Amino acid sequence: MKNFTFYNPVKIIFGKGQIPTVAKEIPVGAKVLVTYGGGSIFKNGVYDQVKAALGEFEVVEFGGIEPNPHYETLMKAVALAKAESVDFILSVGGGSVLDGTKFIAAAIRYEGADPWELLSQKATVKAQSAVPFGAVLTLAATGSEMNSGAVITRESTKEKLSFGSPHTFPKFSVLDPETLFSLPPRQISNGIVDAYTHVLEQYLTYPVNSPLQDRQAEAVLLTLIEEGPKVLQNPQDYDAMANFMWAATNALNGTLSAGVVTDWATHMIGHELTALHGIDHARTLAVVLPSLLRYKQESKQAKLLQYGERVWSITSGTPAERVEATVQATVRFFESVDIKTRLSDYAVGPDTIQHIVERFEQRGPKNLGERGDIQPRDVQEILTMSL
Ligand code: NZQ
Ligand code: ZN
Repeated sequence: MKNFTFYNPVKIIFGKGQIPTVAKEIPVGAKVLVTYGGGSIFKNGVYDQVKAALGEFEVVEFGGIEPNPHYETLMKAVALAKAESVDFILSVGGGSVLDGTKFIAAAIRYEGADPWELLSQKATVKAQSAVPFGAVLTLAATGSEMNSGAVITRESTKEKLSFGSPHTFPKFSVLDPETLFSLPPRQISNGIVDAYTHVLEQYLTYPVNSPLQDRQAEAVLLTLIEEGPKVLQNPQDYDAMANFMWAATNALNGTLSAGVVTDWATHMIGHELTALHGIDHARTLAVVLPSLLRYKQESKQAKLLQYGERVWSITSGTPAERVEATVQATVRFFESVDIKTRLSDYAVGPDTIQHIVERFEQRGPKNLGERGDIQPRDVQEILTMSL
């Protein structure tokens, strides 16, 4: 196992009826900025629950944070928060509202010229501080509720970049599975595939003798395979939703990556497809991942064989046959939850591949993957395999 530092200060408050507890978690007398998205919280009763819980607090609201949250929108929230001198931010929504809130929280305290530098120059520019924030999560997918990362889109340049810092962990996250009952099938499907891919990006690399992390990863995968379809079938199934929600949180809260090597090339490539074509995040992953696994099957073989055997019971055939059967099982799972896995399904052609390769050559990222050996020309091969 590799050396590691594990730090995760997020308090998780899980279960039905837990939204009122936010009142105890926010400092007494704080002026609270409530951030939210396009309005789903007004239709499913979550807004009313939050409003009731915050009865004793002075509240300012900022809505309209879009999926793949835009820097341009978030900077309006930064201006509002500064003008109102807010002390605390409460994110009410999915991963986009929460990622956007992380950016707002860090941008308010940013002392450089433009908070976009937190993303565009993240190798050297780090958040030094952030306004404290918490979350009421209404969509299980990203793990943002228990990590410090955020992915922000700059609409004017069609860039989608990430940042993270020890200051951008939520102070708490309320995970009430009942808030997910109103999710449309498309978002449930996205959540299953996003969480599943988070696990694979941390698991399908090369062995470092980490049996605990491997089995934790396999546990999350098997839980998503079992509970995901139940949730799609019946989004009011509390027990299945609770299991799905907690699995998605555990897919990206740092435990699976502790002491192991991680890949993340699928996410880096997928972010470009969202930035350029607006394809839902999870769908970009479902397109990129199968080709990436096939392309890197030699260096990933040991873990691919383990994954195939332990998750899909694939034990016969040559190693190459077992790897192919394993990738096919993964694709079948994605398709079974209504996620298409080819670029052509999203009307994306070779010109976009060229555009992405040029971006990676000029701006990076380069040296992708667990061995740092995926270069722009490899990205071209991988995406061409996905056409
Ligand atoms: O905006 P509203 O009206 O709230 O509607 C949202 C949105 O249209 C809707 N929704 C959310 N909760 C709902 C609901 N509709 C009905 N009932 C509910 N309970 O769902 C739509 C999608 O929401 P969004 O927040 O965009 O989805 P998700 O949670 O999948 O977040 C995706 C974003 O997270 C980033 C992605 O890149 C993308 O920008 N990621 C963040 C990560 C992180 N912070 O660690 C890691 C991930 O890999 C991912 O990159
Ligand atoms: Zn993701």
